[in-house]
Amino acid sequence: MEQETIVITDVAPRDGLQNQAVAISTEGKLELVRRLAAAGVRSVEATSFVSPRAVPQMADAADVVARLRGELPDLRLSTLVPNRKGLERAHAAGAPEIAVVLSATETMNLRNINMDLAQATAVSEETLAHARELGLRTRAYVAVAFVCPFEGEVPLSTVVRLAQRMREAGAQEIVIADTIGAAAPAGVKARIAALADTFEIDRLAVHLHDTRGLGAANAWAALEAGVRRFDASVGGIGGCPFAPGAAGNLATEDLVLMAEQSGFATGIALEGLLDAVGYAESLLGRPLGGRSSAWLRRRYGAEPVT
Ligand code: COA
Ligand code: ZN
Repeated sequence: MEQETIVITDVAPRDGLQNQAVAISTEGKLELVRRLAAAGVRSVEATSFVSPRAVPQMADAADVVARLRGELPDLRLSTLVPNRKGLERAHAAGAPEIAVVLSATETMNLRNINMDLAQATAVSEETLAHARELGLRTRAYVAVAFVCPFEGEVPLSTVVRLAQRMREAGAQEIVIADTIGAAAPAGVKARIAALADTFEIDRLAVHLHDTRGLGAANAWAALEAGVRRFDASVGGIGGCPFAPGAAGNLATEDLVLMAEQSGFATGIALEGLLDAVGYAESLLGRPLGGRSSAWLRRRYGAEPVT
């Protein structure tokens, strides 16, 4: 029987590294991506073109993109941009793909990008339209699509409306994000079903955090609802600096393990991911890894960094 494939975008270089206490060199970022690519990862969110005052760790975005384009031309390379200036910087650096970031509540947009919901929607639409004119691939995050750390439960109707707006503005992929890891499988299933009524399920991706240990269960609910595109972060590193309570992302190794054991192909080798986790540990100077990492290390004989 032919295996179905899922597409995983590893967001560790952006979501994972944006909020670290230790400074990470450009070379360290490149080496992490090299190891992800060697493990079979074909899509990464490499960096973000945001204000270096807001997020100092991403100040080398142009360098990261230019060097990765040269070294790994076949890797799908996305970059997060909050506004037109970010898009222009990304384009100038040779980025082939951008993602705009629209949060589903007023307060989260204000805290994250200093715009209210209406402004953030308009700026995201304008940025998407301009990116399409420039010939770039486009994604649009709908962040805090389940629960907002400031405003609580987010109405489903808001998420559907914003996702639709992003799609109409030209986003080729809509990324439904559980930014603080507060979703549960039944809610994921219900939201994906409603979104799938609105546009093609193939356009939907899910971005999960594992704050409450439900990341894999939520991914499974999305899989069962027909989603085949996922964000995840090697070692489970990640979290938005402007969203209190956001713990790490669903670990890429946990997602790959679950998907492969359930009969889906990912193209990604667990052993290679463990190598990338070990490298990320050496970069950050602390132990990392998803829920499966202790078992994976026994299985593949990899030593954690102590
Ligand atoms: N990249 C680099 N610099 C940028 C920029 C971008 N995308 N957008 C704006 N700036 C600069 C402006 O040029 C200006 O610089 P100056 O003071 O030297 O003239 C300064 O930032 C302020 O510009 P302004 O438009 O008033 O921005 P702001 O202070 O309202 O901040 C954002 C808005 C969006 C730039 C900022 O909140 C941001 O970068 N947020 C990103 C948050 C993030 O990465 N979250 C995690 C991922 S979801
Ligand atoms: Zn995230």
